[in-house]
Parts: sequence; C-alpha cells; structure tokens
Amino acid sequence: MIMMNTTDSRRRFLKTSGRIAAAIAAGQTFPALAGTSPTVSAISFDQCQAMTPIQSAQNSTLVQQAWKRLQNDIASIKNPRLRSTITDIYNDPTPRLTADIDIKSRQTLRRELAAKNYTDSSWENLLPNVPHDPKKLMPFIAAPGSGYYSHHAYPGGLVTHVATNVQITKSIIDTYTKVYGYSVDRDLALSAQLLHDLHKPYVFQWQEDGSSRKEQSLGGTGEHHCLSAAELIARHAPPELVIAMISAHQAASNQENEKQLVGWLDAAAIIAGVDPVAYGLISSDRRLPDLPRQEGFICHLGDHDFVLSVPAVVATLPIMREIAVTDYKISESDLNGKVFNSLRNHIYSTYSAMRLHEALSKAGKNEVRRLMFLSVLPVA
Ligand SMILES: [Fe+2]
Ligand SMILES: [Fe+2]
Repeated sequence: MIMMNTTDSRRRFLKTSGRIAAAIAAGQTFPALAGTSPTVSAISFDQCQAMTPIQSAQNSTLVQQAWKRLQNDIASIKNPRLRSTITDIYNDPTPRLTADIDIKSRQTLRRELAAKNYTDSSWENLLPNVPHDPKKLMPFIAAPGSGYYSHHAYPGGLVTHVATNVQITKSIIDTYTKVYGYSVDRDLALSAQLLHDLHKPYVFQWQEDGSSRKEQSLGGTGEHHCLSAAELIARHAPPELVIAMISAHQAASNQENEKQLVGWLDAAAIIAGVDPVAYGLISSDRRLPDLPRQEGFICHLGDHDFVLSVPAVVATLPIMREIAVTDYKISESDLNGKVFNSLRNHIYSTYSAMRLHEALSKAGKNEVRRLMFLSVLPVA
C-alpha cells in the first residue's frame, strides 16, 4: 500500500468529499451498493504505527463502502433544505456554534447549564475545543463513533455506526408500510438518523496517544447528544427535526421519558442561545409541543445497534490485547498507550468489532488472529 503524508491525504479526501457533496446537493444518486466483504491489504506493523486516523479510514473498504452508502442515503432525501443541511455537515462537521466561543461565554454557559442541573463539568471541560489549525480539523469519515471503550471507537466508526442505523431505520419504515399500510415522513426519519451523532467528530476528537477525547455528561447523557441538537438549532433546522433527532437516546413513551427529552431540548436551546418555546421545541408547560411523532420513536429504535456492538468490543478487545503481546511483541506497558491503540484502531477500522466478534464466536481466537494478520503483519 502507498503511504501518504497527512496533509496530502487530507487534501485528497477533501477534494473527493467536495465533489461528492456537490453531487448530493444536486440530488444526484449513486449506484446501489451490494453488501460485500471488505477487501483487506496487509501493512507492516511499522506502517500501522505511522497511520493517521484519516489514512486508516481511507484504507478501509469497510469504511469507504459505508461512506458511499451514506452518500446515497443523503441523496435520497427529497427535501432540498434538509439535504443541504446534512451535506454541509458531512462535508465539514466543524461545529459553527461553539468553534469560537470565548472563555467568558463558556463560563456563563456553564453557569446557566449548572443552574438547571444539566452539567457538573468545569467550564474548561464543558465543550470540546475546536483546533484553529485547519490541518487538524476532523473530517466526518475519520471520526470515531463512540467513546474509546464503547461500540465504534475506530477511524470511520461514526460512518459505520450511522450507516447501520440508517439501514435499520429504512427497514423499520418499510416494515410499517408493509404490515400497517401507512408511511411515516421518510425524509424526517432518515434526516434525524443521519444527523443524530453529528457532534461526535469533535466530542471524540482523536488524541496523540491514539485514544479519543473523554466525553462529559450533559443533561444526564453523553454531551454529544445535546451539542448535536444545539448545532442543528444554530443551523436553523426545523423543530420537528431537532425533536426527532433528540429522541435517538430516549423515546417519548411516557411522561417520565418525555421530561428527559424536554430537558435535553432545553439544554440544547440554552447552548444555541434561543428560547425553546419560541423555537417550537417545547411547550410553555414543559412538554413536547404536540403528540410525539413516530419519526422520533423510529430514530430511537434505529440507534440500538449498541445492544450487540458494545458486547462485540467487550469480547474482542481482550483477545486483541493478548495477540498484541504474543504476535506483535507489544510490551505490557505499551498496551495502555499509542503502540497498542494504533494497532487496535487500524484492525477495528479494517473489520469492525462486529465482524471480529462474529469470527470469535464462530471460530475462536485463532480466527481473530488470522484476520489481524491479514490486516497488519505480525512482528517476527
Ligand atoms: Fe448519540
Ligand atoms: Fe448513535
């Protein structure tokens, strides 16, 4: 494989993503993608150590296929306004809302959120910093899809997570049509799912040691959730989209759950600096404005991949650590830093924890070892 320097590879990626974004904005669709096993080409251990998250995502056919699948899904959104909001964010996920927030505003925001018990973070940790160096901005395709020990923590994990969710969402929509004979608002349900984790490239920014930033809690859930909603508000998204998206972490199935959704919408409105009632996010008696729409429930149902993808990581990570010591000659001390993190990031980016879990459960540890060797050559 050809190694590229980070600047070159990022420039090439941005050029390609710019072209794709232009095509999507014009509503152009791409050929349907069949589910194919990713092609894997082996690199040396030293090459793996030198890979950046962008390079790992670029070299993973799994991630590339999921990315193309998402482009098709975005292009299928009929409403041009929704399609262009999604395209803009996928093309450049840098948050507009919090990118240049100064210390004073950050402290004021922290006070406002803490007064309503939405946060107990310090003001320094409240929001992820956005790098000023454009070379350090994170493209959507290379971002992790979860915290570092959770379901999709590898370059391209956000893309595979969202692509999975969108497929599930489309299947639910089709199921309701087939079984019950009615159609929900497909644009709304798909847009909510495509955007539900939009802040993850910054909340889970890659760190020098190959791990990702530790997420803070906000409103009793991961901060990416309210920050994603706040970013949508800052981009003038319609309230029904923000409500459908905020339902990813909870469904309005009873009053208690509805209260939680209202709290997250309120926190997002505080961050975005808008009145949540005037915006149409909540009613003046702190309920959802109307009978909750089904697209929010469907977004919630579609965000349940973690039921399997979390155990997939829990089962495969210790095996990967064992193999790292025996076959890649990684020392015990290096298991907790960049050396092992680079290996696991590349292996997960190549296969996903899901596929390694399937290999482990069906054929055992040696099959995981075989797959790892196909992606990164062992150290003699
Ligand atoms: Fe989320
Ligand atoms: Fe998610």
